[in-house]
Amino acid sequence: MIQPYGPMRVLRERPRDAATIERMTVAAFGPERMQKTVYRLRDGIPQLKDLCFVAVDQKGKLVGAIRNWPITISDKWPAVLLGPLAIAPELRGLGYGKALMWYSMAQSRMLGHSRIILVGDPEYYNQFGFRRDLALNIQLPGWVEDRRFLALELVAGAMIGVHGMIGKPAAKPAVRKKR
Ligand SMILES: CC(C)(COP(=O)(O)OP(=O)(O)OC[C@H]1O[C@@H](n2cnc3c(N)ncnc32)[C@H](O)[C@@H]1OP(=O)(O)O)[C@@H](O)C(=O)NCCC(=O)NCCS
Repeated sequence: MIQPYGPMRVLRERPRDAATIERMTVAAFGPERMQKTVYRLRDGIPQLKDLCFVAVDQKGKLVGAIRNWPITISDKWPAVLLGPLAIAPELRGLGYGKALMWYSMAQSRMLGHSRIILVGDPEYYNQFGFRRDLALNIQLPGWVEDRRFLALELVAGAMIGVHGMIGKPAAKPAVRKKR
């Protein structure tokens, strides 16, 4: 899957990207990031492989990445937990972040997801439609700065009536082999 954005491309994350993404994420959010509530929700849960993308420049160099994780609200409403999103420090402000955001959101919609949650700067994420008021009836299992806890409806009305605690998705029941 390759999507051109002028001088850059957005690709599905490849196994060889992991180390660079890790370095970029540390540079963006610091080593303390693992203590954050959102990281606890990701712990032990595989990322949504179809919703992890990298931006590469004309020379194929990785310049940014976005990952998404599955969550549920009240064990009832599935949602996407967006992030981390990180752009190489020397290449910020050039549109890579926006490109990854719009692409990731569109793919989430195409894959049938109806709501996205994130913790991030509202000054940045409001432009994509993320809103504080949509997250007022949901909670994270740990401290979070209220103003940074945001939600987006990919399907109109998808947050109506949605309330309660965010948790990890229920483990899929083991598939029994037919004898
Ligand atoms: C935040 C981040 C993902 C944005 O990606 P980017 O490629 O640098 O930014 P883009 O080119 O897509 O967008 C640039 C626009 O967003 C704005 N912007 C960037 N970071 C912002 C922030 N933290 N708050 C508000 N606005 C921000 C810029 O001012 C610019 O505005 P303009 O289009 O009106 O000129 C990237 O800068 C990054 O990795 N930062 C480190 C992590 C971080 O600060 N995260 C904060 C959000 S959780």
